[in-house]
Amino acid sequence: MTHPPQMNDIIRIHDLRFRPYLTPERLAKRVTGMGQEIRRDYADRQPYFLVMLKGAFIFAADLLRAVDLPIELGFVRVSSYSGTSTTRKVNVLVPPDPEEIRGRDVILVEDIVDSGNTLYHFLPELEKASPASLTVATLLYKPDAVEHDVPMEYIGFEIPDKFVVGYGLDYDGQGRQLAGIYQVAEE
Ligand code: IMP
Ligand code: MG
Repeated sequence: MTHPPQMNDIIRIHDLRFRPYLTPERLAKRVTGMGQEIRRDYADRQPYFLVMLKGAFIFAADLLRAVDLPIELGFVRVSSYSGTSTTRKVNVLVPPDPEEIRGRDVILVEDIVDSGNTLYHFLPELEKASPASLTVATLLYKPDAVEHDVPMEYIGFEIPDKFVVGYGLDYDGQGRQLAGIYQVAEE
């Protein structure tokens, strides 16, 4: 019988090896802290969490349960077009419900801001739906990789410019269900 990987194991996904980087315990502590920050900042409001699929689904599930407010929830799915850095845009695969967003205090929940391309192009699209306010909560941020100025109110961890998987994030479709976050291991 196979067993789920233990956090101290090096794991292999497709052609790459990954080493443990953020344990489930560290993730839980930080995500709970972010939830409490949001609860304070939105104390008398009912924020609408818009979750970026697929990568943010686990982070969002933990974050929302740490926000003790009458929240609401929606989902969106976008993908980056491949292309040169100047022509890249985003493809909205599952659009948000504009009626649910209009006039609401929207918190966009993202797994990771890497180049910043996705949010740089998607945030102006969301503004067209006239939310009362729009902020970003991202679990991970790679300051050395970012190419666009993206406003982020809540950041879980600033991490080096190395590929990571787990806790919702994938490498070519695999690794999302890992309880911790793993960083690619240099050969
Ligand atoms: P962007 O470069 O900021 O537009 O990042 C867009 C998306 O690329 C993120 O939402 C992730 O889905 C994905 N991504 C970026 N860096 C990583 C990584 O290290 N691991 C897994 N997915 C990543
Ligand atoms: Mg993503």
